[in-house]
Amino acid sequence: MVSAVDIITYIGIPLAVLGVLPTIYTVLKSYFTLRAISKSLQRNGVIAITRSALLSGIVEIEIPRRSIIPLERGDPKYFGLRENASGLRGGSWTTFWWKEMVIGVKSYRLQYHDELSQPQAEIEFEALIAFLLDRGAVPSKEGWADLRGAGLWTPAGTKLLLSPVSGEEVLSVAMSDDSDGILSLSLNWRREWDTRSTDSLPPYWTRMKPARVEEDVLRKMEELERPQVEEVKEVDKKGGFLDDDSAKSEDIAAFRSPVRVRINATGIQEAYKEDDAKKKLMLLHLRPIPSSNDSNAGFWFCCAATAFEAPQGGLWSFSIPEDVVAVARRETVPSGVMVLLGAVNDDEVPTWRTPYDDQADRFEKHVKFVESSRKMNEENRLPPAERDAARRRRIEQEARDFHTDFQRRRMREDQRREAEIGEAMQSRRLPIPVVAEANRKWLIQKFGLAENMTLMALIEQVMYGMANDVSLARRLAVMLDLWKNWAQSGGMTKSHYLAVKEDQIVFSLASFVLYVIRSTVSEPTGSVVGDLQECLRMWKKVRLG
Ligand SMILES: *[C@@H]1O[C@H](CO)[C@@H](O)[C@H](O)[C@H]1NC(C)=O
Ligand SMILES: *[C@@H]1O[C@H](CO)[C@@H](O)[C@H](O)[C@H]1NC(C)=O
Ligand SMILES: *[C@@H]1O[C@H](CO)[C@@H](O)[C@H](O)[C@H]1NC(C)=O
Ligand SMILES: *[C@@H]1O[C@H](CO)[C@@H](O)[C@H](O)[C@H]1NC(C)=O
Repeated sequence: MVSAVDIITYIGIPLAVLGVLPTIYTVLKSYFTLRAISKSLQRNGVIAITRSALLSGIVEIEIPRRSIIPLERGDPKYFGLRENASGLRGGSWTTFWWKEMVIGVKSYRLQYHDELSQPQAEIEFEALIAFLLDRGAVPSKEGWADLRGAGLWTPAGTKLLLSPVSGEEVLSVAMSDDSDGILSLSLNWRREWDTRSTDSLPPYWTRMKPARVEEDVLRKMEELERPQVEEVKEVDKKGGFLDDDSAKSEDIAAFRSPVRVRINATGIQEAYKEDDAKKKLMLLHLRPIPSSNDSNAGFWFCCAATAFEAPQGGLWSFSIPEDVVAVARRETVPSGVMVLLGAVNDDEVPTWRTPYDDQADRFEKHVKFVESSRKMNEENRLPPAERDAARRRRIEQEARDFHTDFQRRRMREDQRREAEIGEAMQSRRLPIPVVAEANRKWLIQKFGLAENMTLMALIEQVMYGMANDVSLARRLAVMLDLWKNWAQSGGMTKSHYLAVKEDQIVFSLASFVLYVIRSTVSEPTGSVVGDLQECLRMWKKVRLG
């Protein structure tokens, strides 16, 4: 006989057990998921609050979102790597050390532990790029062009910065599921890519080293001009067009060490000598001084320094104004002027002057000779007493003629030179690279320097000289202002030519400055930098993870 108890025991209990099994399963599963997640979080160094709703099988996690900024450059950890970086999705920023600040909390609801990820960190884009360039990463031309063109639609995986040794990505565009409409990036770095240290030149800085003695244009220039310095001071007292000799403000002798200068959007921010990094150089003559008519020396220095570092770094905050770039791109120096200055030969440029025709001179000479012979013949036919008087008169006349001829010839010579200058102004204009190269050769010959001195070595000397020597900085600025002036006002005139001729060495040095400005816009790196800078302007903050 089957009793009710038996039915409950043999059918009801198993049924009930079967009924709660799924619940037991869910509870166990979420327990293990929670454990796996907690372990995973711990292993990756992520601090989080975890909760599990046991019956629903969902694990809830709250992880703080951080805002990060690079450490001070002097901090030993700045060039270090974290030992246990997070391998979770969204955690690649933990590769490096940062200054961190919690700015919010992100909640996750997970069913499986492999869905685990962590919030990306928020960072200022420019600070991130400056830091990674400082670590040695190299901008990728295509990457920045893509990002500039496609913005948020740039495909995930697009490489923006590459490793210094292989072509592997350092910074690339990431999936945007955690980015809330902000640009999302991810980071990758290996210890073996670290080649730089605190001594390396960080972005925004320019380094100039003094030339070796046998290549030192500036020293030779100073030697050449030393005797004239006294005269200049004479003029100074009377006319007062040069400032007093506060000129050599910072001790030159103590200055012969590489100099580093940091340039921000408005000009020089700070500077120091490498052999005395603690002492800041003021470089007052290169600082912009508002509401004074001081020269543009600081402005031109910043243009030159920015262009000089461009191929090496790829990040700066000073932007060379468009009109200056336009001047450097234009053809601004007539070839005839370069010939008259002795920097190029006539056969290196198209014909520009009317050849001098001496036919008239020869004819005139001939007429005079015939006339003189005729007179001598006539004299010979005269009686002896009259003959002497006639000869005397003839000789006196000839002397007077000779004198007026000489003056006439000199006047004609002057006219010819004037006409030549006029023709030179009209001759075909040369682009800056040709002018700079001709000036380089001229300068090397003038000072007997090593033939293989490059334009880049010379431009470095120019910048070094501008930092060092107040009067050179002013003269260069005056010359460059003059150059810009004639380039923008329809070309060189005679007065420009005379000013150039007066200070031809400085004219040569100025052509190097324009050359380096021009080369930044034509080199391929110039365009990477253009795209990079534009992207930095578009995206102020990014999510990194
Ligand atoms: C990194 O790992 C070490 C052991 O491998 C551990 O002692 C340390 O606490 C970990 N640091 C962090 C921030 O998790
Ligand atoms: C650049 O540096 C100078 C000198 O430190 C400072 O006065 C100026 O405000 C800075 N300009 C910008 C745009 O940061
Ligand atoms: C600026 O230049 C003008 C003329 O060029 C002169 O009259 C004036 O005194 C100068 N001002 C200063 C502050 O040097
Ligand atoms: C130029 O040549 C000299 C030897 O003639 C050499 O010592 C120097 O390194 C060369 N400089 C460059 C930049 O090639």
